[in-house]
Amino acid sequence: MYKTTYDFATQLDNEDELSHIRNNFHIPKDNNGKEWLYFTGNSLGLQPKTTKAYLQQELDDWANYGVEGHFEGETPWLPYHEFLTEKMAKIVGAKPLEVVVMNTLTTNLHLLMVSFYQPTKRKYKIIIESDAFPSDRYAVQSQLQFHGFDADEGL
Ligand SMILES: Cc1ncc(COP(=O)(O)O)c(C=O)c1O
Repeated sequence: MYKTTYDFATQLDNEDELSHIRNNFHIPKDNNGKEWLYFTGNSLGLQPKTTKAYLQQELDDWANYGVEGHFEGETPWLPYHEFLTEKMAKIVGAKPLEVVVMNTLTTNLHLLMVSFYQPTKRKYKIIIESDAFPSDRYAVQSQLQFHGFDADEGL
């Protein structure tokens, strides 16, 4: 039965066949050297230990190829979205044809609303949580303004 105790949580960790994956991440420590309990996944998750090597690879390609890095090197930049399509389709449960990995989250929010937000005079309000990420709120407000509505009243 489920218990809210440290021992029970430790037992679940020990039984978890994926628990070794924890070792793939850098975990920040407090002043006493004790690892943080880290629950943030939304804004910035833990850094995978492989990140530095991947970034270094891109910096090396940039250094060695300059603008030609778009076409040359380990992972040419121009078709980078194609490298990610299959994996992302699996993650979101879609067909590869339906998925593209691109842009920043805020840019994608704008693209989403440009396609799907078709307000009328009577039906234009957008509901989001009151403590939404600031850039999410700004994107929504700017879409309201873009369509001629008051950013605060419409939200
Ligand atoms: C919920 C949420 N919205 C927006 C953003 C901003 O993302 P971006 O800088 O890619 O636009 C973040 C970034 O962490 C986020 O977590």
